[in-house]
Amino acid sequence: MKEIQVGLIGFGTVGTGVVKLLQNNARLLEKRLGARLVLKKIADIDLTTPRDVQIEKDILTKDAGEILNDPEISIVIELMGGYEPARSFILEAMHKKKSVVTANKALLAVHGNEIFKVAEEEEVDIGFEASVGGTIPIIKTLKEGLVANEVKAVFGITNGTSNYILTKMADEGENFDDVLKEAQDLGFAEADPKFDIEGIDSAHKLAITLSLSYGKRVNFDDIYREGISKISQDDIEFAKELGYKIKLLAIAIQREDSIEARIHPTMIPFDHLLANVNGNFNAFHIICDAADSVFLYGQGSGMMPTASAVVSDLVDISRDMLKGIARRVPSRSSREDIIEDIKLKSMDDIVTNYYFRFSAADRPGVLSKISGVLGENNISIASVIQKGRKHNDAGAVPIVMMTHESKEKDVRSALEEIDRLDIVRGETILIRIEDDNLKSDFIQGT
Ligand code: HSE
Repeated sequence: MKEIQVGLIGFGTVGTGVVKLLQNNARLLEKRLGARLVLKKIADIDLTTPRDVQIEKDILTKDAGEILNDPEISIVIELMGGYEPARSFILEAMHKKKSVVTANKALLAVHGNEIFKVAEEEEVDIGFEASVGGTIPIIKTLKEGLVANEVKAVFGITNGTSNYILTKMADEGENFDDVLKEAQDLGFAEADPKFDIEGIDSAHKLAITLSLSYGKRVNFDDIYREGISKISQDDIEFAKELGYKIKLLAIAIQREDSIEARIHPTMIPFDHLLANVNGNFNAFHIICDAADSVFLYGQGSGMMPTASAVVSDLVDISRDMLKGIARRVPSRSSREDIIEDIKLKSMDDIVTNYYFRFSAADRPGVLSKISGVLGENNISIASVIQKGRKHNDAGAVPIVMMTHESKEKDVRSALEEIDRLDIVRGETILIRIEDDNLKSDFIQGT
């Protein structure tokens, strides 16, 4: 039987999962591929930590060069994470005509333009299914399954840690810091949890998703991002009362002249599928012109789910190698030689519905002052909730308002003005609401 020699750089949790999967499902993979995947070398700087998998000791090395310089190895799996030396290893592998499989979302979000260009020039493949949505085949879905479609919008729950925190806060009334600690103990939070709770990890994943959905070059820093650290139990309770769940959403919407790309806590109607994606699960709601609505759901992290995505890339590339072809599918779905920069809509210009929670003095005239400023800034109020006289620490009461569609720029000017009023105590909380946009007929009509 034919063999395909593979090298693995990075023997951490996912790396161990890949080794396990290649061993446990070796027969099945041979049957499906018609060849044997041979893990020839594993490189990691830490060779002493025990891993829950049996391997021949002599395949382990501390030197990634033993993989990169081995002419028999035709596919390199990079699972070390981080920017360097991962970037240099991937580029070197490609310059040596090896195809690459990686789960490195941060690297692809920031250096993807360079990496995809080199892959094209060297005529090698780069598989990155595991970089977005863990086990969910979102990359293949966008590149192949939905290739005939114009993607109108993608709404994703792409950070398991944030989703786990929001779910536990909503369902069990748990406190933010305690649940974050649980997510860290369970192993799906990033080494620096700021990446999770400040929306950076989701933005990495959205950058990759955008480049595939629209076949464009994306500049990571242009993506608007806001995390969940300001979300309190009060907002979760008010959202419930109003018929919404709060989720950290990665949003891409094609508008007439540009594309909206934003990450922020979002209120979603209770009955929408995304509102029912709980715990550390990830999901994507894709709206297309022909396929209409497509929904994907699954584990966004974890040893074996992520390994499943890595091995799927390995098999895809190997299948093509066995047929003597490469780059059957372009890395970003569209031809690399004609790829253009994406045109993102300025955040100031987005139009959506808003939830505001003001913390204000409990005295006559307060509501009219606030609504006056909103009115002067073209913001029309759809509903108001003011609870009885249960004052918070600042001696203030919460006033909640929902708006009709408003422009972000107007909202920011209004809130700046309102937060300067002497009747307002502390910063107003703003949460965007996605309601109509989640309906495919609404998006199709834009
Ligand atoms: N920290 C990430 C998450 C892991 O919480 O989703 C998967 O990318």
